[in-house]
Amino acid sequence: MTSANGTAPSVASTLGVELGSRAYSIVVGDGLLKEAGRRMAEVISRRRVVIVTDATVAPLYLETLEASLAAADIEHFSVVLPAGEASKSFDHLRDLTDRLLDERIERTTAVVALGGGVIGDLAGFAASIVLRGVDVVQVPTTLLAQVDSSVGGKTGINTRHGKNLIGTFHQPILVLADVGTLATLPPRQLLAGYAETVKYGLIEDAPFFEWLEQHGDAFCRGDKAIQTEAVVRACTAKAAVVAEDERESGRRALLNFGHTFGHALEAECGYGERLLHGEAVALGMVMATALSVRMGLCPAADLERTRRHLKARGLRVGVGEIAEPSWTAERLLSHMMSDKKVRDRLPTFVLTQGIGKAFTTQEVDPGLLRDVVDVALSDRP
Ligand code: NAD
Ligand code: GLY
Repeated sequence: MTSANGTAPSVASTLGVELGSRAYSIVVGDGLLKEAGRRMAEVISRRRVVIVTDATVAPLYLETLEASLAAADIEHFSVVLPAGEASKSFDHLRDLTDRLLDERIERTTAVVALGGGVIGDLAGFAASIVLRGVDVVQVPTTLLAQVDSSVGGKTGINTRHGKNLIGTFHQPILVLADVGTLATLPPRQLLAGYAETVKYGLIEDAPFFEWLEQHGDAFCRGDKAIQTEAVVRACTAKAAVVAEDERESGRRALLNFGHTFGHALEAECGYGERLLHGEAVALGMVMATALSVRMGLCPAADLERTRRHLKARGLRVGVGEIAEPSWTAERLLSHMMSDKKVRDRLPTFVLTQGIGKAFTTQEVDPGLLRDVVDVALSDRP
């Protein structure tokens, strides 16, 4: 069998995010971009879409996506933004919404976010506010976006107060994760996404963590079958969490494992190339596990296993490897206090009783917390 544009359909896995009238599918497979038009035609209201992408992704994948839209008779135009975190700003949001309005989009026009988490968050936010909300299709091209940010509907931009502090929940109508796009991802970006993949094993799925211990090397060497299985397993986990707790009043907070510490490190590094989000999450997961051990909640062996696995893939596990002499425990702790997840002036921590057994708490001994940050600052494995 061949598809509308003459290519054989790829072997793909389809998962559901069960959110009643806002339910949607996540399709994961190799080569999906070529059939994106056909798949979108099944869910969009009218055959007209706007592709939002960035200047790095556009030369790699825009033509393929446009060709598949044309083959499915979907009218389209494209907006190409600069690559990088700086695009998640009010200025770029204004420019993007102006472009959408310049092109006279209608309520039935869908926005297609082709790129990593930056494009997904910005285009998703623009889609949620322009004309009081239009549909968005997420077409994630980084590992981080495929396993995390494209699913679940969080959108947002950064302000001088911090990351993602302005945004909405706006679920996509479809997620198309073409794992073939991971082949062009710089290894450092792949590894940053790998940290977010490992997170699912660490929080609730010890067998997945074990599977990654066995297959992580092949994954990082670009084995497509292994990458596909990992993205499917991660998306299955995320879909279940989002279906149960869309607005993060309970279980969804577990997805923030490592993030309270990680955000403090990102704040010190200025949210950019110096420390990628996933790299910060890897360091943060080690710190959260170390705190759990110090509090007598988690076996020390599980901390060692977590560190060993992340380090073996090439992720940094000791904050001392990136810390400047000016960094102090006080500074990192003060960043944690301004985290989005602070409630009643106390940060919410995701701690663990062992691999696959994470939980949330606000009850953390400040002395032990400070000790853990001090130890991390001098940790240069
Ligand atoms: P990114 O979007 O900046 O992508 C990283 C880099 O890779 C960019 O330069 C991009 O142009 C390039 N790139 C993308 N796909 C490529 C490909 N296939 N080949 C080659 N280069 C490619 O970063 P990211 O790591 O994908 O996402 C980080 C963002 O996601 C952060 O802003 C973070 O806050 C956000 N995020 C959001 C959620 C959510 O739930 N909404 C969850 C996690 C992270
Ligand atoms: N990335 C965390 C969440 O989607 O809730």
